[in-house]
Amino acid sequence: MKFPSRLLPFVFLSLLGCQTQTATPPLATAIPLKEATRGHFLVGAAINAAQITGKDRAGVALIDTHFDTITPENDMKWQHIHPELGRYNFRVPDKFVEFGRSRGMWMVGHTLMWHSQTPDWVFKGEDGKDASREVLLARLTDHIRTVVGRYRGKVKGWDVVNEAIRDEDGLLRTEKPWYRILGEEGIFAAFAAAHEADPDAELYYNEYALENPVKRAGVLKLVQAIRARGLRIDGVGSQGHYGLDWPELSEIDDSIKDFAQAGFKVMYTELDVTVLPRPTNYFGAEISKVFAQAPELDSFRDGLPAEKQAELAKRYADCFAVFAKYPGAVTRVTLWGVTDRTSWLNNWPIRGRTDYPMLFDRQDRAKPAVAAVIEALQAAPQR
Ligand code: XIL
Repeated sequence: MKFPSRLLPFVFLSLLGCQTQTATPPLATAIPLKEATRGHFLVGAAINAAQITGKDRAGVALIDTHFDTITPENDMKWQHIHPELGRYNFRVPDKFVEFGRSRGMWMVGHTLMWHSQTPDWVFKGEDGKDASREVLLARLTDHIRTVVGRYRGKVKGWDVVNEAIRDEDGLLRTEKPWYRILGEEGIFAAFAAAHEADPDAELYYNEYALENPVKRAGVLKLVQAIRARGLRIDGVGSQGHYGLDWPELSEIDDSIKDFAQAGFKVMYTELDVTVLPRPTNYFGAEISKVFAQAPELDSFRDGLPAEKQAELAKRYADCFAVFAKYPGAVTRVTLWGVTDRTSWLNNWPIRGRTDYPMLFDRQDRAKPAVAAVIEALQAAPQR
């Protein structure tokens, strides 16, 4: 093939897999993210079924290049892996484990005990009312033994319990059936069963909004109680669903210090940064139904303005700088998705919006945030 010389730079960029027709210059990364995080922590992504099965080839290429740990975004949740009583569906989870094994990646299992994405049958007795304590405990521990046991030695760490503590008062979510029926004992039983099924696996408690001091104190109490029972618990997963200006960096910093001082590893397990407002009054709405009254809820349908892009890059860099501030305290940072194209935030808490929360854009290109993160890590202390 021969190209006129004035076109050569564009040919070069398109050979790199970048698109030439866009106004913004395509951005390649100077080095892979996983190289920049070496000496700090593992860096990962939650991956979806299209990536696990190889359909999303561009997504897989980014995962291969940039990440050294993976978490299944949905496929190991109860509703998917154990949809009916006595029926497990290991098709995609098995593929996930093969995906990670063949690439030598650190695999995290997500999640064993959660009030969300768990079918109703789990909590019901034969009479349609709440299952008895004995029945629910048996279902929980059988489920955990089956799932963790199947991937013993392969999945290296498990989010055993997810989101058990309330935001308002830091107490157990007793309004949810797991805790209404089992109380804290259910959590202890979950950790015990996971350890029994794979004694070498790391076990975590995973939670959002740990920057809220009330909630953090409740979580700290819970994880200390788990440990005081003599049960294995290695770390606390801090989800890290953030916005451009919340939470404060000092609050993120405080939460790392609190858990690290108490002897827990800290992992950022679901990091993303929404650029859109998160109004609670529109929770669950479809954007096409509310856009006319509230266009500010979806202001970047046609693209992210350069100044917002820069704000996002700075926010990511600032967060990574805090994660890297105490070498050894934060052991992993996992992003909740790979590109803006597939982020769950396009559909939560409002459906059908156009959000820009990831490090890679809708055309699978690295955003300025990647370079900013790499630069922040280069300036940070290493282990
Ligand atoms: C989300 C997934 O990303 C979505 O695809 C799904 O529809 C709902 O769950 N906290 C968690 C994750 O622990 O499992 C959630 O993942 C996001 C919030």
